[in-house]
This record gives sequence, structure tokens and C-alpha cells, in this order.
Amino acid sequence: MTGFDVVGGELHVEQVPLAAIAAQHGTPCYVYSRAAIEAAYRAFDDAFAGVPHLVCYAMKANGNLAVLDVLRRLGSGFDIVSAGELARVEAAGGDPARTVFSGVGKTVAEMEAALAAGILCFNVESASELAQLAAVAARVGRRAPVSFRVNPDVDAGTHPYISTGLKENKFGVPIEEAEALYRTAAALPSIEVVGIDMHIGSQITDLDPYRDAATKVLALVDRLAAGGVALAHVDFGGGLGVRYRDEQPVALDAYATMLRELMRGRRETLVLEPGRRLVADAGVLLTRVTALKPGGTRNFAIVDAAMNDLLRPALYQAWHRIDAVRPRNTPARPWDVVGPVCESADFLGHERMLALAEGDLLAVRTAGAYGMAMSSNYNARPRAAEVLVDGARIHLARRRERIADLFASEAPLP
Ligand code: LLP
Repeated sequence: MTGFDVVGGELHVEQVPLAAIAAQHGTPCYVYSRAAIEAAYRAFDDAFAGVPHLVCYAMKANGNLAVLDVLRRLGSGFDIVSAGELARVEAAGGDPARTVFSGVGKTVAEMEAALAAGILCFNVESASELAQLAAVAARVGRRAPVSFRVNPDVDAGTHPYISTGLKENKFGVPIEEAEALYRTAAALPSIEVVGIDMHIGSQITDLDPYRDAATKVLALVDRLAAGGVALAHVDFGGGLGVRYRDEQPVALDAYATMLRELMRGRRETLVLEPGRRLVADAGVLLTRVTALKPGGTRNFAIVDAAMNDLLRPALYQAWHRIDAVRPRNTPARPWDVVGPVCESADFLGHERMLALAEGDLLAVRTAGAYGMAMSSNYNARPRAAEVLVDGARIHLARRRERIADLFASEAPLP
């Protein structure tokens, strides 16, 4: 895996021992490799060389400004889902004109902010959203660029919580209703119809659902063109999976070949919204063993990171590899790696064969996506620090939250 290697018996990120980061910035700490993010972006972008395309990084996966900065320097656009994410893009120097706005519940205030920023398009998900957006745009004297997110009703074969392209999911406009909606939109003076969009789910490891969905979407694009509505871009969303344990991720060239074939001879620009695939492998959650509680039924290794730092195991029963930062030669035994939060769902891994002593450092792997982004302050735990390593340089990308930060915006009764 680019960015993380065992050198001289200890795990490094690029040229820096993870232990040095723990010594300098403490634990729990998210650690990202700039080189790994760059390699992932370049591989993705290069796979579409020669095809007019725009990669809009789905920043919900990891919105740290340093991460966004690395990506926008490579030319990445962004996929956002809130005014907060738009503000992050702007704070990181990202280009609103290369930014698409997804999400089922954009508020009027968010529509205003995105119109003022001059985003590439709104991925509109309902007739109601279209009407509200048209009204807002008319009021502020702008034309809102619109792309409808269609729900193609395909099963992405992923975890039910992260599947989005089925009829029973809340996302998108049912594909059979989309044509009429496009005609309505095309007739609205404050709306400019620019594209079409789909996103069928996340951590997808099979190309067939993409192909089925994309084929349905392109057939719709052709029907629209025949009816006089020409689109400038087609957005096939994100969703490409990575290997956490033993999954077989879709190879980038297979994905790109499929999309190249589908787009052959077409005029529309290809837009893609990868999140996980660009950053998951580029990050680890660094944590220290606080206490060991071996027992008759289970052995518990209690660490200083918890479900509030990395929610994926508790929420999706997600499996993340856990490595000792300095592996020991003593006999290993199966440990349940758990945090200090008062919930039995608070675990990072079950029955991991590790040789551990108190004070040891562990690296929870493949944590660059939907790790820090989904963290919380549950149990009044300050959020972890984030560090971006570039060669031998350690950049503190977010200082550890302080206890006082936790309630700085609260007020006891007068
Ligand atoms: N575009 C849209 C409209 C999305 O909703 C998402 C993710 C993406 C792109 C990026 O998908 P990706 O390439 O990362 O699969 N918290 C979950 C994942 C939720 C994904 C939500 N939408 C997890 O930790 O697995």
C-alpha cells in the first residue's frame, strides 16, 4: 500500500516512523500520506486520459483542508453536500466552478450560497427541490445550473446503509419520471439544464450494477436529446470500493474501459465523484493501548481511540486491519480491540491476533475515508488530531481538540 511500510521493524508513513508522530502529537491521531493521496488521484485521473472528464472528489469522505488542498493542486474538482462543505472547498482554494452539489435536502440558504459561489451544477433530486431552486435563482437574479440525479433502480450489492440506487432509497428522481422533469426544467427561465447524475452506492466491488445503471442513464440522455434537451455532462457518481480485508476491488482500468466504451462517440463531458477510492488507503488511525484485560472468554485490548473517532465498525460492522506499529516477537493471542466509550458497539476489531503490551501503538488501516469525517464528541471526547505527512515532513493538519472546545459554544442557564 503506497505510503505505509514496515522499515527496520516499525511501521512508517512515507519517511516518518508512526511512533514519532505519536510522540509529537499524541494519540488518537489520524495520519495521512500525501504521496498516497496523490498516487490514488493520479491513477484515477490518468485512467480517463483522452476522455473529456472532471474528477469531483466526494469530500464527505475526508474534508480536511490539507487533504482538499493536495487534491485541488492536482486539478481535482469537488462533490459537496452542504454549505459547510462548500465553505471548506473555498477555504482550501478549491474552484467552485469545478464543484457539484449533491444531496436530497438542500436548504434555501445553501442554494443561495452555492449560486453566489458559482458552482458547476446542482444535482437536483426532486421536483420540489427544482421549484425551490428556480425560485431562489429568480430572486437573486441568476440562472441555476441543474443536473438531475436519477435513481436507476439497480442493486449495487453493497451494505444496505450505503446503497442508494434502489427505488426504496430516498435518493434521486425515479428514472421513469425524469424525462418530464427535464422538460419542466428546460422551460424555467431561471434554470439552465446542464447534465445528468447518478450515484448507486458505496464500497461497490462489482462493475455490473454500474454498467446497468449507466446504460439506463445514457438511454435517457438520448431520449432527452431527441426531444430537444441536450446535456453538457454525464455524472456517474462515486462508489468504487477498496480492500479492507479480502474484498476484490474493481480494477481502475476495468472501470475506465467500461466507461470509455459507454462514452464512445458521445459529446458529453464525463464527471465522476470518487470519495473512498482516493483517500481510504492513504490514512491510518494511530492509537495507543491503554490497558489489557485478558480473560477466559475474550481478551480485551483497550485503546485510546473509540467509536467516536472511527464509527465504521460500530455502524456497519466494518472490518479494518489493525497492525502493531512495532510488532513484537512474543506469542500473539486474539484480542478484541475496544475503546473506552460506554457502549458494547465500541470496538475497532474483534479477535485480532496480536502480541501486545500496554503502551503499544496500533495503526487501524484504511481509515483515510469516512474516519475523521464521521467522528463525534460522544462521551465528551475531544476529536483526534490529524497529521499529513509529505516525505519526511510532518504537517499538523488539525490540532487535537481541547477539552474547553467541547463546550465553548454552550451556555448554562443565566
Ligand atoms: N457521490 C455521492 C452523491 C455520494 O453520496 C457519495 C457517498 C459519493 C459520491 C462518494 O462515494 P464513494 O466513492 O466514497 O463510495 N459512510 C459510509 C459511506 C457513505 C457514502 C455516502 N455517499 C462508509 O463509511 O462506508
